[in-house]
Amino acid sequence: MKYILFFLIILTPINMYGQNKSDYGLKMFKNANCNSCHQWHGNGGGSYGGAAASIRDTGLDKEGLKKIVECGRPGTNMPYFSKKAYKDDRCYGLKLIDFEGEDENRPLPARKMLNDRQIKALINFIMDDLKGKPVSKDYCLKYFGKPTRVCEEL
Ligand code: HEC
Repeated sequence: MKYILFFLIILTPINMYGQNKSDYGLKMFKNANCNSCHQWHGNGGGSYGGAAASIRDTGLDKEGLKKIVECGRPGTNMPYFSKKAYKDDRCYGLKLIDFEGEDENRPLPARKMLNDRQIKALINFIMDDLKGKPVSKDYCLKYFGKPTRVCEEL
């Protein structure tokens, strides 16, 4: 009994922390409006932002994901979300001034910037809930926070 209690006490906060971490990442996904281009399910597709790639099918690893969220993808509609992008040397050592005269390659700033901690949470959410996974009913319920017609159809 003592041991069971011990494990409960040790494991409960770890589990809760894991949960919160991913939920905070989902919150960032919504706050930063990733869903406006990549859709609620992350599979992207046609939208006003052009054809956004699928985050579920991405071949990028954790570092690559971090880089594209921080720096965007210059020359496409994928904006950069780090406040420090193209100011310090995190984005390929480039600064905004390096794109002068190359309007078609200029990286686009996101409407809402994220700090390093928020980007980290967002990447954890992508790794845990999106990358390499099919859209599930569980994910749908988590995303919408309540049963909706969309989730029923999954
Ligand atoms: C204005 C529309 C728009 C918004 C907002 C946006 N994206 Fe994108 N994203 C794109 C487009 C378009 C691409 C494809 C770029 C290309 O053609 O290579 C892309 C590509 C990506 C990729 C690369 C996938 C791959 O394997 O190449 C990732 C990861 C990604 N976006 C994550 C995010 C996240 C996370 C957010 C929110 C913080 C976000 N995007 C917000 C439009 C958007």
